[in-house]
Formats: sequence, C-alpha cells, structure tokens
Amino acid sequence: SAFSLFPSGLSSCYEDNNPVLGRPQLFGPSEALVKKALDFYCELSVYPKNETILLQLFREGDRSKLLGVSTSLDGARGVFPILFKTFHDGNLECVASAQNNTSVEPSVSSVHRLRVIEVRVSSEKTEFFEGSTLELRCDLGEGTYATYKWFLDGKQISETRYRYFNESFLQVFRTSSKDSGSYMCMAQNSYNKTIFHSNSSVVNITVKDVVSTPSISFNVLKEDWNYSALLSCHSQRGTPPVTFTLYNRDELIGNTTEEDRSTTFTVPIELGKHMGWLQCRADNGDQTAYSHWMPLLVEPVQGPVTLHYDYDTGQNYAVVGVRFYCNASKGSHVKFEWFLNKTLLPDVPGSFYRVVDEAPARSILLFTVGRSSAGTYHCEASDEFDNTTAISSRRKYLDKEVLNRLPDVVVAVVFGCFSLMIIMVCVCCGISIVYSKISCFTSEMKKMTAAYEEDLASYLLSEVGSTQLHLLKYMYLSNFLK
Ligand SMILES: *[C@@H]1O[C@H](CO)[C@@H](O)[C@H](O)[C@H]1NC(C)=O
Ligand SMILES: *[C@@H]1O[C@H](CO)[C@@H](O)[C@H](O)[C@H]1NC(C)=O
Ligand SMILES: *[C@@H]1O[C@H](CO)[C@@H](O)[C@H](O)[C@H]1NC(C)=O
Ligand SMILES: *[C@@H]1O[C@H](CO)[C@@H](O)[C@H](O)[C@H]1NC(C)=O
Ligand SMILES: *[C@@H]1O[C@H](CO)[C@@H](O)[C@H](O)[C@H]1NC(C)=O
Ligand SMILES: *[C@@H]1O[C@H](CO)[C@@H](O)[C@H](O)[C@H]1NC(C)=O
Ligand SMILES: *[C@@H]1O[C@H](CO)[C@@H](O)[C@H](O)[C@H]1NC(C)=O
Ligand SMILES: *[C@@H]1O[C@H](CO)[C@@H](O)[C@H](O)[C@H]1NC(C)=O
Repeated sequence: SAFSLFPSGLSSCYEDNNPVLGRPQLFGPSEALVKKALDFYCELSVYPKNETILLQLFREGDRSKLLGVSTSLDGARGVFPILFKTFHDGNLECVASAQNNTSVEPSVSSVHRLRVIEVRVSSEKTEFFEGSTLELRCDLGEGTYATYKWFLDGKQISETRYRYFNESFLQVFRTSSKDSGSYMCMAQNSYNKTIFHSNSSVVNITVKDVVSTPSISFNVLKEDWNYSALLSCHSQRGTPPVTFTLYNRDELIGNTTEEDRSTTFTVPIELGKHMGWLQCRADNGDQTAYSHWMPLLVEPVQGPVTLHYDYDTGQNYAVVGVRFYCNASKGSHVKFEWFLNKTLLPDVPGSFYRVVDEAPARSILLFTVGRSSAGTYHCEASDEFDNTTAISSRRKYLDKEVLNRLPDVVVAVVFGCFSLMIIMVCVCCGISIVYSKISCFTSEMKKMTAAYEEDLASYLLSEVGSTQLHLLKYMYLSNFLK
C-alpha cells in the first residue's frame, strides 16, 4: 500500500482526527520444529500518534484461534514468542488495530507461510512374531531434506547384516525378540544455516519369540491315602503369555495361561495302574508346540532289593576302587539310600564315595578303598513319594583284606583243574601199565606237577600278594601236589 512507503516519522504529519493504520509486516521462520520456541515479529511503519496499537497473530481467515498477541505504542514492534505445535502450520497473518479507538480501521499483513515440522516414527505393526520384517519410517512431512539417525532404547544403532537404513526408512529382516524396544529417529536438517536436530516420538515394538516344544514330566504326591501326579510342562523359549493345555489322548484335562514359560497340572492317579498317555501343548499366538506323549504310570517299589559289587585293581593287582550296585526289581519313582555300618551316607561332594542313580531302578555307590571305607554296606529302596516303603538289601562287609583275598571261585577252579590232571595222568599211567612201562608214572608225574607248581605259585603271588593266609593256602596246595 502507499502508506507503507512513508517513513514512520511522517505519520505525525497526519491530522489527529483522521488517524490511519498502515499495513503491518510479519517476520518469522518459514519452518519450525514441533516443541521448539521461536519468535515472530509484527512491525508497523504508519500508525496514529498517542494510540495503543493491538497486534494479533492468526492463521489466515481463522479469527477464532488467537496464536499470539502484543501491543505497540509509537511504532514499537510487536513480538510473539511461540512454542510450535502442529496447529501453527499454515499461512499466518498479523492484524493491527487501535485498542481504544474504533474509528481507526484495522489493517492486516500479507500472509506468511509457516511449515511446522513434526518428526514422527511410524510402523504398520508394533507387535509380531520373530522372523518377520520390521519396517519403520521416520516422517518429517513432504519435501524436507534431512538425514536420519536411529535409536533403540536410547542407544544409537548402526546397520548390520539384517538391518538397513534407507533414507527415512529402517528395515530389520529376520527379527528376533532382541529387536524389541522403543525406537526413535533423529532428523537432521540445516535451517537458516544452522543445523537442527529433532528427536521423534518413540514407537514401542514387540517381537515375540515363538514358543518352543514343551517338555513334560511328573512327580508323585501323596496325601493321606490319595495319590496324584504333579505334571510339569516347560518351554525353553517363547514370549509369554503362553497357554498350556494338557491332553490325555483326545481328552482335554487342563487349560491355563501363564505369564511364564512353565506350568503344572495336578491329576489324580492310582498306583500300579496305567492312567493313559499325556501330552502338553503350548501356544503363544503363532503356532502350537507339542510335547512327546508320556505314559502316566506309577509303579510302587518292589523287592527283592539286590546288592552286588565289582572292583578295579591298581598296581600289584591290589583292589583300589569298588562299585556297589543296588537294584529294585520294580518301581518307577525309586529313591535309593546307601548305608555304611547302618549310618546313612549323605550325598556330599568331596567324600570318599559317590552315588550315581540310574533309571529306572538302580543306584551305584562308587568308592575308593581305604581306611574309612571299611565296614558293612547295604542299600535301601523306597518310593520317592512315600518313605515308609523302604526295602533293605542284604548287608555286605568289605575291607582291604576281604577284597584282596583270593576269591573262592579261583581256588575251586584251581582244585578242579588239578583233579582233572590227576585223573588224566592216572588214565595215562593205567595205559602205560598195560604196556609194562611202569616207570613212566613217577617221571611224568614229577614233570607235570613241577610245571604246574611254578604256574600256580606265580599266579598266587601276583594275584594275592604275600599275606600269610595266602601263603598257607599255597603251601597246602603244594603239599597236596606232593
Ligand atoms: C536466521 O539466523 C540469523 C542469524 O543467525 C538471525 O539473525 C535471524 O533472525 C534468523 N532468522 C530466523 C527467521 O530465525
Ligand atoms: C499525546 O499525549 C500526551 C500526554 O500523554 C499529550 O501531552 C499530547 O498532547 C498528546 N498528543 C496528541 C496529538 O493527542
Ligand atoms: C483503553 O480503554 C479501556 C476501557 O475501554 C481503558 O481501561 C484503558 O485504560 C484504555 N487504554 C488506553 C491506553 O487508553
Ligand atoms: C535426542 O535423543 C538423544 C538420544 O536419546 C539424546 O541424547 C538427546 O538428548 C535427545 N535430544 C532431545 C532434545 O531430547
Ligand atoms: C481322597 O479321595 C477321596 C475320594 O476320591 C476324597 O473323598 C478325599 O477327600 C480325598 N482325601 C484327600 C486328603 O484328598
Ligand atoms: C482354554 O480355556 C479358555 C477359557 O478358560 C477357552 O477360551 C479356550 O478355548 C480353552 N482352550 C482349549 C484348547 O480348550
Ligand atoms: C564299621 O564297623 C567296623 C567294625 O564292624 C569298623 O571296623 C569300621 O571302622 C566301621 N567303619 C566306619 C566308617 O565307621
Ligand atoms: C519320612 O519323611 C518325613 C517327612 O520328610 C519325615 O518326617 C519322616 O521321618 C520320614 N520317615 C522315615 C521313615 O524316613
């Protein structure tokens, strides 16, 4: 307008009864980020003297929402401090009016285009199962050039084999639960020759692990005279909540949803009776995982409980280690206990013995032979769930001497062989007599017994050591031979 050409000092030339408001001018940023604060200015070059001028900021054509207000006296420029919100986006204009003088015509500035930039991160889905592709977009609005940085749970992330940055997109292929978290992007742009950084809002992504094949097992509970099976179903991985169902063949017998990867079901049972085949199924929304089929059969422990042993020899054929075996003839949930001199051997590491339990109904006690291992051993088998059912094995005394004594079987075999030889020699000599070669008996006999004595003596010495007992036995055998 023509008025804006006059310098402000000339306005005093106008008559007071004909006050005129020139067209105000609006200055301000043309782009602004949401939540940032910046100032807009409105200036008048032509204004009436002694009038307070009201300056207001509006969006073009919308007088209902006042975006900023300021007053000006004698040409001072109005300032509008603005904290940018999305509704500031659009064409803005400044309206000037005389505060206390309706006879002065208000005037309006030309429009100022303002773009309010909001950095938003968006994803089509925020919850899905592992293996899918995650795609996030950092949204700045149309036509804004920027570079992007991505943050997961507050830490900047970089590209990897499965993670790509592509302009404003982030793509993660073959996702796993490790890709879950709060994603944020940071947009960088140069505006008015200064770099701005803008953090987006966050989007929470949940990548769920598919539940893994559950395991199934059970313990037996005894309450008074009632027995029940306490079934455990457990999946190693999978994002909760997990729904577990328990089936006995086709029949659903339990159904529960857990904030955990395991659950238990209680099923009443009868001892010694086959109660069916059970299966656990686990599901956390993607696909059902099935456990193996488990027979539900509890056999109570049954005797006889047998005890036998074998051993290892070290240098000089001395016995150094012994293995006791304890077997129950029946029982599916058998607990074994070992006793030395009627004292329970607790399963403590570092002692001279070790207990190894083997399914279904066997326990092994291993020990090294020494001073502390001497004594009377026995074992007891009972039901895990009922310690009143204990059945004892026979007792067996073992010490170094007992273990190193020549076994009776060896003695028996030696005697057996010897007797057989005597018979053979006799037969031989019988035949010799027939052929009148009587002398052969004594010579043959002496040769054979000499050879045999040597063998036996070396065998006994090596096998038995030099205890007196064994020497006696050897002497006895030698005499018998002579
Ligand atoms: C642009 O930056 C200059 C100096 O850096 C400053 O004086 C001016 O007010 C800025 N303009 C806007 C619209 O913020
Ligand atoms: C402006 O106001 C001042 C005092 O506030 C007064 O002295 C002066 O005469 C006024 N001028 C006009 C043109 O009204
Ligand atoms: C403008 O008028 C209001 C009453 O309408 C009065 O309270 C205020 O003081 C006046 N302001 C000036 C600057 O004259
Ligand atoms: C933007 O996010 C980064 C990373 O979390 C942080 O260091 C920075 O302080 C944030 N800036 C603002 C303005 O919130
Ligand atoms: C045992 O079972 C019987 C019949 O099923 C029932 O009446 C009783 O309450 C049960 N006892 C206990 C201790 O659970
Ligand atoms: C488990 O129970 C829930 C409600 O308690 C039911 O909606 C669901 O269908 C059941 N699942 C099965 C496999 O029966
Ligand atoms: C067990 O008893 C025997 C005697 O019957 C004894 O020689 C041995 O030292 C005892 N062993 C232990 C570990 O107490
Ligand atoms: C069986 O177990 C109970 C509880 O653990 C215990 O109080 C009781 O003494 C045990 N009985 C026998 C014979 O070990």
